[in-house]
Amino acid sequence: LREELGSLHGIPLYKSFIEGWPQVEAFQARPDDLLIATYPKSGTTWLSEILDMIYQDGDVEKCRRDAIYNRVPFLEMKAPGVLSGVDLLEKTPSPRLVKTHLPVQLLPTSFQDKDCKVIYVARNPKDVVISYYYFYQMAKMHPDPGTLDEFLESFMAGKVAYGSWYEHVRGWWEKKQEKKLLYLFYEDMKKDPHREVQKILRFLGKDVAEGTVARILHHTSFQEMKKNPAANYETMPTALMDHNLSPFLRKGISGDWKNHFTVAQNERFDQHYWEHMAGSDLCFQME
Ligand code: A3P
Repeated sequence: LREELGSLHGIPLYKSFIEGWPQVEAFQARPDDLLIATYPKSGTTWLSEILDMIYQDGDVEKCRRDAIYNRVPFLEMKAPGVLSGVDLLEKTPSPRLVKTHLPVQLLPTSFQDKDCKVIYVARNPKDVVISYYYFYQMAKMHPDPGTLDEFLESFMAGKVAYGSWYEHVRGWWEKKQEKKLLYLFYEDMKKDPHREVQKILRFLGKDVAEGTVARILHHTSFQEMKKNPAANYETMPTALMDHNLSPFLRKGISGDWKNHFTVAQNERFDQHYWEHMAGSDLCFQME
């Protein structure tokens, strides 16, 4: 299954996704679509589960109706023998939740034309790269990640699926000037999930009872999601995702990079980080 990435307008991406690109580019958004946009491994599934719980008014059973990748279709997904993200979205009744990892410049124009709301979640790059390294190992559509040292170099050079983390987080951050984008951080969600869920509710203009909020928080905790087959990707064929190599819900903490980076790797990464974040008011909590 493992195969080298192709290139979509300069962004490294799975070849099957590139084949499906014309359908994605022509995608027709609906005004009440809510877009969940992230760089991979930044808390996409967590935010998706929170939003489905909000949309289902805190009904846990309704959120078990299907796997997360069917409840929140993945816009640019295309693989042999399964419905593409766009096909699945066309069958999904409104109001739809839509997942994408696309960098902002590749977002189909229809989202802008229909003035759709967007929630972006960003995570510090040291934890992203570690999470991505394990994901490359377990999710077999990726090329072989090599050693951690090699993978760190690929990540810094933007030679991983979806390209440069720096360009992704900065591109979407600039888009935040528009009022319809809520920009969240994984580290804030870890620190104070109640406050972040309240932020989401305000952004959506939803008034939800405190008991429902408590249910949402409980159901979307790492421990609950890890044992929930509708949220933990265990329903994916093992040939595609091998949870014995590394579970999809792996650790769910901030700062795991400290268990992996050597002092030299950390110094090199920090230097690269400061060079590539210069001039931006976007700040990340690495600790
Ligand atoms: P780790 O590999 O660091 O554990 P994505 O959904 O964007 O692919 O991100 C996956 C990362 O989010 C994984 O990080 C996963 O464990 C973490 N994650 C998923 N659900 C979570 C939750 N409820 N709380 C905290 N982290 C969660």
